[in-house]
Amino acid sequence: MQPETLSQPLLAWFHENKRILPFRTESTPYRVWVSEIMLQQTRVSAVLDYFERFMKELPTVQALAECPPDRLMKLWEGLGYYSRARNLQKAAQVIVAQYGGKLPADYKALLALPGIGEYTAGAIASISFGLPVTAVDGNVLRVFSRVLWDEGDILRPDTKKRLTAQTAYFQPPDAPGAYNEALMELGAIVCLPNGAPLCTECPLSHLCEAHRRGRETELPHKTPKKARRRERYTALLILRRENETPQILLTRRPADGVLAGLWQPVLLEGTLSKAEAESALAALGLHAKVCKAAPKARHIFTHLEWELSGWVCRFESGTLSQEHVWANAAGLCGEYALPNAVKAYSDLAKEMLSCPDRFSL
Ligand code: ADE
Repeated sequence: MQPETLSQPLLAWFHENKRILPFRTESTPYRVWVSEIMLQQTRVSAVLDYFERFMKELPTVQALAECPPDRLMKLWEGLGYYSRARNLQKAAQVIVAQYGGKLPADYKALLALPGIGEYTAGAIASISFGLPVTAVDGNVLRVFSRVLWDEGDILRPDTKKRLTAQTAYFQPPDAPGAYNEALMELGAIVCLPNGAPLCTECPLSHLCEAHRRGRETELPHKTPKKARRRERYTALLILRRENETPQILLTRRPADGVLAGLWQPVLLEGTLSKAEAESALAALGLHAKVCKAAPKARHIFTHLEWELSGWVCRFESGTLSQEHVWANAAGLCGEYALPNAVKAYSDLAKEMLSCPDRFSL
């Protein structure tokens, strides 16, 4: 098959059907970079508001490089995979130090930056700089495995290499970025995963081997994932009133590991009963009366699952360490970054701190 046989209908379709997105209407290297990092493991609809807010507050590489880390975490709060944001900042600092604050127009130089892998380097290089390189994500692998009927496991490096070589073969030299983005877009809105591709809307259906066989849903092949490790915690919403202002006790997570450096209500290991929670707190030098149960919650990470239970507690006495703060409603909303993993409890705390009388605080 000649490359244009595939690339022409694909590009015509993209031109007519692409979603209007803020990083498409203005595709500077910085905007494409930040958007591609946000879009890793996250849907476009979930990213849009974050992207706009981020660009407003940190419009340049320089501003990102200089942003206080806690503020950066607050801007990323809720997006998850926080190391993405930390790497973004590290890379911004390198770009300022080595490239005068401008992203380098070079695939290898981009690839050498923290947090930038082959996909992201390819996306920036092709979309923003017009360089003829590939950008192959899960969407693109799905499209090509179906069009070419490739039964290889797409999690295996040799399959990815083979399919990447195929995308390079079909790439038009005069529109490498549009071609890459068109493949991503086709995977995102037409050649859908989980058994429901919209083949009647697909510009490649007449070329697609999986479609010809009527077996689109059987590809791509992927080895089943291992079961996630499960951990149980008890969240303690420890509340007090200070000069009539209700507050909640937050602690900072350790600087390494899961959700490093983010804030959360006091979180103890295990599913603790009322009495167990009170004595575990006392062992930490914190005396609080456990008042009532908070709802149960669950949070799924990539390799880990948290099962959470919770208690609302009234603070009585105790000494706090440096890693503790008392936050009021404004602090909880505007200052401290709390991960989605404890959202059930931070939302409840926000409600209680904003309407203390309803909760007889
Ligand atoms: N997913 C990741 N990046 C994308 C992009 N630029 N367009 C569509 N979907 C994407």
